[in-house]
Amino acid sequence: MNIDQIFKNNQNWVNEKLGLDPDYFKNLAAGQRPEVLYIGCSDSRVTAEEIMGAKPGEAFILRNIANMVSNLDLSAMSVINYAVSVLKVNHLIICGHYGCGGVKAAMESKDLGILNPWLRSIRDVYRLHRQELNSIEDEEEKYRRLVELNVQEQCVNAIKTADVQIAHRDRNFTVHGWVLDIKTGKLIDLNIDFNKVLKGIMEIYHLE
Ligand code: CO
Repeated sequence: MNIDQIFKNNQNWVNEKLGLDPDYFKNLAAGQRPEVLYIGCSDSRVTAEEIMGAKPGEAFILRNIANMVSNLDLSAMSVINYAVSVLKVNHLIICGHYGCGGVKAAMESKDLGILNPWLRSIRDVYRLHRQELNSIEDEEEKYRRLVELNVQEQCVNAIKTADVQIAHRDRNFTVHGWVLDIKTGKLIDLNIDFNKVLKGIMEIYHLE
């Protein structure tokens, strides 16, 4: 992608928006009231807005390697706090994707330096679900299942935050776990049964 072309594309986009609505940027500058917080992978193929058909102003977004929600990650904790407790989004989406390089790297034993602590959180997901994952013989299928279980565990990590627990208690707030299938472009709702997933552990993480 050519840098000069990016600025040309930007000007074309500005012209296109103003052609449809002369007040487009004036309205956009007035403030935001997004309905959803989307946490997805930094992978260049999994563009948050494009896959959801979201327009500027509609989705608050965080992307990092393998769509992680780490409680020591000040960025993720700040994004969740601001989106959930200040902007008051009613949907928190964690979206993983099949073919995720971060998840793949966590299935291998290679020392990746600074990436090690980040990927270790995915290894922890593997450890939590070792029994199920080790029972899957097909490597590709196991990889896909780890992508899904990683989404599930990152949803659980989001639910461990006070912001999400308070939003869930006080209003109609939902956490969603999704996966994008890069091979088809389709978004898949994992329909995670949080009552089942959280059974017996919320007494540990419950905050009020
Ligand atoms: Co990825």
